[in-house]
Amino acid sequence: MKDIEQQLEKLREQLRYHNHRYYVLDDPEIPDAEYDRLFHELQALEAAHPELLTPDSPTQRVGATPLSEFGEIRHAIPMLSLGNVFSDGEMLAFDKRIRDRLKSDAEIEFVAEPKLDGLAISLRYEHGFFTRAATRGDGETGEDVTQNVRTIEAIPLRLMGQGWPQVLEVRGEIYMPKAGFNALNDRLRNEGVKTFVNPRNAAAGSLRVLDSRITAQRPLTIFCYAVGLVEGGEMPDTHHAILQQLAAWGFRVCPEIRVVQGAQGCLDYYRNIGTKRDSLPYDIDGVVYKVNSIALQQELGFVSRAPRWATAHKFPAQEETTVLEDVEFQVGRTGALTPVARLKPVFVGGVTVSNATLHNMDEIERKDVHIGDTVIVRRAGDVIPEVARVILERRPPDARQIAMPTHCPVCGSEVQRPEGEAVFRCTGGLYCPAQVKEAIKHFASRKAMNIDGLGDKLVEQFFEQGLIRHVDDLYRLIEKKEQIAALERMGDKSAANLVNALEKSKSSTLERFIFALGIREVGEATAKALARHFGTMEALQAANEETLKLVPDVGPVVAANIARFFSEAHNRDTIQHLRDLGVHWQNYEAKPAEALPLAGKTYVITGTLSRSRDDIKADLEALGAKVAGSVSKKTTALIAGESAGSKLDKAQSLGVEVLDEAALSVLLSHS
Ligand code: IVH
Repeated sequence: MKDIEQQLEKLREQLRYHNHRYYVLDDPEIPDAEYDRLFHELQALEAAHPELLTPDSPTQRVGATPLSEFGEIRHAIPMLSLGNVFSDGEMLAFDKRIRDRLKSDAEIEFVAEPKLDGLAISLRYEHGFFTRAATRGDGETGEDVTQNVRTIEAIPLRLMGQGWPQVLEVRGEIYMPKAGFNALNDRLRNEGVKTFVNPRNAAAGSLRVLDSRITAQRPLTIFCYAVGLVEGGEMPDTHHAILQQLAAWGFRVCPEIRVVQGAQGCLDYYRNIGTKRDSLPYDIDGVVYKVNSIALQQELGFVSRAPRWATAHKFPAQEETTVLEDVEFQVGRTGALTPVARLKPVFVGGVTVSNATLHNMDEIERKDVHIGDTVIVRRAGDVIPEVARVILERRPPDARQIAMPTHCPVCGSEVQRPEGEAVFRCTGGLYCPAQVKEAIKHFASRKAMNIDGLGDKLVEQFFEQGLIRHVDDLYRLIEKKEQIAALERMGDKSAANLVNALEKSKSSTLERFIFALGIREVGEATAKALARHFGTMEALQAANEETLKLVPDVGPVVAANIARFFSEAHNRDTIQHLRDLGVHWQNYEAKPAEALPLAGKTYVITGTLSRSRDDIKADLEALGAKVAGSVSKKTTALIAGESAGSKLDKAQSLGVEVLDEAALSVLLSHS
């Protein structure tokens, strides 16, 4: 029996360790399959010896029977709320109030933390074991959500390390990461079930269900940010050291938390995290500043249920309500008609918004948008503002349906919806001024011909003035320097700069030129693959759909688009005109697939790299290599970026070569 007990404890210890690596540190050490094997081994052993089962075993997260209602838990120490500041000025006033109260001229040391957009939780540990969890409730009494919280793998059932108090309450925010939220909503949509509006609602809806088996299926996690009751033990004397102590005991603590000096340090942090906000894997709605010294916190105390030593600095709201006054249709480069909402101006995401995208007709139908509706506008970071949803309860009786026009609002050509496509298109092609204008903007853009200084506004101006009607007219501007200089907001210097930029852009690369042509669905990566495969413009123009499909990444739809583009005489003429005007590039040596330098080699890409995986894949494939999804003995090398996980472990265990980003660059440039 002793043997079995030891075996059980060893397995549990191993699983706790790997659980912490995976869910708390986001840094798994072993592949998922190995974890699963250990887990099943423990399950089997426990099934054979049910008398040795313990509630803190890693197998005991799910399984409780559904509740009929939540019990209540009175918080030993109330869960307070935070005061708010909305501007730099209010933040400075907060800092001054603190210094006045402490009668201190010196800078205060603060801890700056993201304000997480989830729901607050209090976790109780006795002698290192998780005993219960309560929501905030009204701050005095919360709901007993212990069964549900047990299912969240990032929450330790038993503390790591040593030195924990006999009773310890840890407070934090339970939230749903953005990726998990999107996956969950995809799944719910597939099942035909109502989706969640945002990650916060999804987190709340997943935690406050009576059946913990539902919580267990939801991608919830936690960041801990404070302690409540502490009995029979000591905690460090600064807030930051307390967080470090919590991390050492196995709690998940947000990696963005920093110690900063004075109000200026706080404001710098606020700005910095604001620029990172969209790329964080979770939603935040501001920053929290907390006085670091616990002694000073105690001196400052509380006022009406909020600490004087902490405040939240909120970001401007990303969602606001307004009225949809009208809908217009914009025509893009490929003729696609995009419905654009004209809104009663509203301040959202830090700017005044009066236009927002409605994406396409399917979206309008899905969201059931009518003209006259009160709608919620969302502007997150630099993303184009969108109409997120409608408040149906506020629909006026004279609300109107939105209809796709039968004819292009710009050129009057017929509008069609090609079979199997979601978008409606103007059939005017290059007869439609809107399409031509967009095509010219794309041609001049940075990743295409990179005509420095020729932005969208200038293209519009040249177009309105009749100076350009077509992409090749751009290079005819070189002869019209005086005319350009005479335009509004131009002058001699700007005209000279533009002419220089045009001259410079004439010397390009084949892939840039192909991309600049704006063939539908030929992005940068495909343009590169085409350039490498065919080597010359002549070979590409001569290729038929079958030959085009041999290029990595080119499927039947893209092949048809390319073939159709080159079959049109005016496109071939444009290319010839551009060449006559001096646009040129270096050709590649076209090689049969077997002769390519990486022919026969197979690579796998993992982790975070500075370029997208698709891009790297296209580069490797253009050199003849294959790119596979999983590592095996046949893999030539694994290309591993940052935070590479189980694939890296597998490569190392199989003795497969591992290349970092620098080694990849060498491989690509020397092949
Ligand atoms: S500290 C006494 N830190 O904000 C201070 N709260 O408005 C107690 N929140 O109920 C809270 N991120 O749900 C703190 N880094 C953070 C936070 C945070 C989000 C939430 C929490 C609290 C609410 C207060």
